[in-house]
Amino acid sequence: MITITTLSELREIRPSLPALVGLVPTMGYLHDGHLSLVRAARKECKSVIVSIFVNPTQFGPNEDFAQYPRDIPRDLQLLEQEHVDVVWTPTPEILYPAGYQTWVNVEGLTNTLEGKMRPGHFRGVTTIVAKIFNATQPNRAYFGQKDAQQALVIRRMTHDLNFPIEIVVCPTVREADGLAMSSRNVYLNPAERKAATVLSRALFTARQTYENGEHNAQTLREMMLSILNNEPLAQVQYVSCADIQTLQEWEGEIKGTALLSMAVFIGKTRLIDNVVLGGSL
Ligand code: PAJ
Repeated sequence: MITITTLSELREIRPSLPALVGLVPTMGYLHDGHLSLVRAARKECKSVIVSIFVNPTQFGPNEDFAQYPRDIPRDLQLLEQEHVDVVWTPTPEILYPAGYQTWVNVEGLTNTLEGKMRPGHFRGVTTIVAKIFNATQPNRAYFGQKDAQQALVIRRMTHDLNFPIEIVVCPTVREADGLAMSSRNVYLNPAERKAATVLSRALFTARQTYENGEHNAQTLREMMLSILNNEPLAQVQYVSCADIQTLQEWEGEIKGTALLSMAVFIGKTRLIDNVVLGGSL
């Protein structure tokens, strides 16, 4: 495994990597969710690049950029065990040179859900992912369903900008009790960690209800809301049952594939989770 920081090192190594080249972009503090993407890339590609960069431009002014957990030595050890070829750990000075003023923005899809609650978040995500794509030139790039809207927005960007890159979306990896793995789970104290299972419980109950034949979107949203509201430590930000293609809320019966998603504060920690009904991402 080669670990590099500068763009000149990346440009020197990139031509020697045999195709297919798979890329897994991350912000580090790796867990089994990230590693599932690395394993998928390792299985399907000849070469695997992992990037680690906590991207300042996708965090809002009152969000957790400064506290976001970081542990590069541990990350490198985990990636070595997965037989990754290249780990790229760029610095903010490399990716955002002084006087920076260029942005990639996906419209429409970013107006709802996470985009609505976190203004500017997806502009930061699409800009950094476009830059990482440009620098690493992968044939395939791997993303998690955990961040479903992010995966859809990146797919849209890749198509719209004619990047010759296949976007692969891998299933959400969960703890044994259902909690979706996230670098942010370390913020939870023991009582909050217990309470955090309410997100997956609400989603799984709604999914079961859908599978039993209840396809009314409002009924499913209300069901999730009532489960979430029963947990004293949970403060719901949004609950959604949206068309997977447009991310607009389904009204009445669901007539295609639906993304059930939510953002919930458990104490001060903001958690997101989702499931897909009647199809896949
Ligand atoms: P990060 O939160 O580090 O996540 C990196 C990748 O891991 C994303 O594609 C995310 O969806 C995936 N992932 C996270 N938790 C997962 C889980 N429990 N199961 C499966 N996949 C999971 O997402 C980002 O970083 C950034 O926005 C990034 C794309 C790197 C741009 O800065």
